[in-house]
Amino acid sequence: MTHPQKVSLTGIKPTGSAVSVQDGGSVHLGNYLGAIRPALALAADYRCIYFIADYHALTTQRDANALRENVRDVAASWLACGLDPDKMLLFRQSAVIEVFELMWVFACIVATGQLERGHAYKDALAGGDSPNAGIFNYPLLMAADIILYDSEIVPVGLDQKQHLELARDIAVRMNHLYGEGTVVVPQPVVTEAPTVPGFDGRKMSKSYGNTIPLFLPSKALRSAIMKVKSDSTPMEDPKEPEGALVYDLYKLVATPAQQAELAVKLRAGNYGWGHAKQELYEVLEAQLAPLRERYQALRADPKQLDGVLEAGADKARVVARRTLDRVRAAIGID
Ligand code: ADP
Ligand code: TRP
Repeated sequence: MTHPQKVSLTGIKPTGSAVSVQDGGSVHLGNYLGAIRPALALAADYRCIYFIADYHALTTQRDANALRENVRDVAASWLACGLDPDKMLLFRQSAVIEVFELMWVFACIVATGQLERGHAYKDALAGGDSPNAGIFNYPLLMAADIILYDSEIVPVGLDQKQHLELARDIAVRMNHLYGEGTVVVPQPVVTEAPTVPGFDGRKMSKSYGNTIPLFLPSKALRSAIMKVKSDSTPMEDPKEPEGALVYDLYKLVATPAQQAELAVKLRAGNYGWGHAKQELYEVLEAQLAPLRERYQALRADPKQLDGVLEAGADKARVVARRTLDRVRAAIGID
């Protein structure tokens, strides 16, 4: 029997245009190795809460159908990758509307100057945009996401660190103004996940169009791997694996023994980059085929998927109401 553990919470933003199951879904290999796999590994030590930040996506998403589909796609992807809804919470941010009440409370104690210093807002201004108020207030909603569920640990990439610091400031200020213990003060944990390169060698990202979608059908996966950039060293010549893109990707998914074996073959010569790509494909296919099967089954049954998300929201709401009761009592609105 494990003891109640610390709460680790992460929001997942469903972004991008609508994608079809046949095209491999919206999640790519970089998301999987850099975010999903490490986040799921945390379940061994924490009580994990994952939610799909659909209202954060609304700051940039204008296509209702794409948003709807992306939420389902992200949920199906995380479940297919091994998120166990009996052990971890998974729900839509929008299903627990208590978050907006807490956000308002926070809006009333945060100086606008703090929001004006937000990276995302400043970048949008610098880019010549006229950012919407959602982008300006984005960090407030994020702080509410975190504090509503009594989160102690929030694992995020470096790009989210500033948001986390603001959430922490807000929690400290709440307790200072209204009494220690009003809210739990979260701790950012900057995750050191690998940066996965795309097939052109730049960071794999939807915005570069260089992704390998995680659930590509087997044949399409092979074609995508064959597109990984390599040089034109003749087949017979020895090749240096270190620094080669195929090998970099291989190292992220193969066992140390498999890596050593491939390095020997490349250095020996008479072994082309195409052969190495075939090895990469085979290792990936062995790991991803069972995930793909689960993903396709989940995407084929949206009712079941929505049911999982609803059940998660029901449990999340209990925690949310408890926090809000505490906050309302503290601020004098009870
Ligand atoms: P994209 O750049 O494709 O739009 P997102 O910004 O939606 O990806 O990223 C979602 C999550 O996946 C984030 O936690 C991010 O750190 C992680 N991630 C995205 N791309 C990579 C990558 N190439 N390598 C490692 N992690 C990544
Ligand atoms: N802003 C985060 C991102 O763009 C997503 C997010 C929303 C989040 N709410 C959160 C992350 C709360 C951690 C905690 O990736």
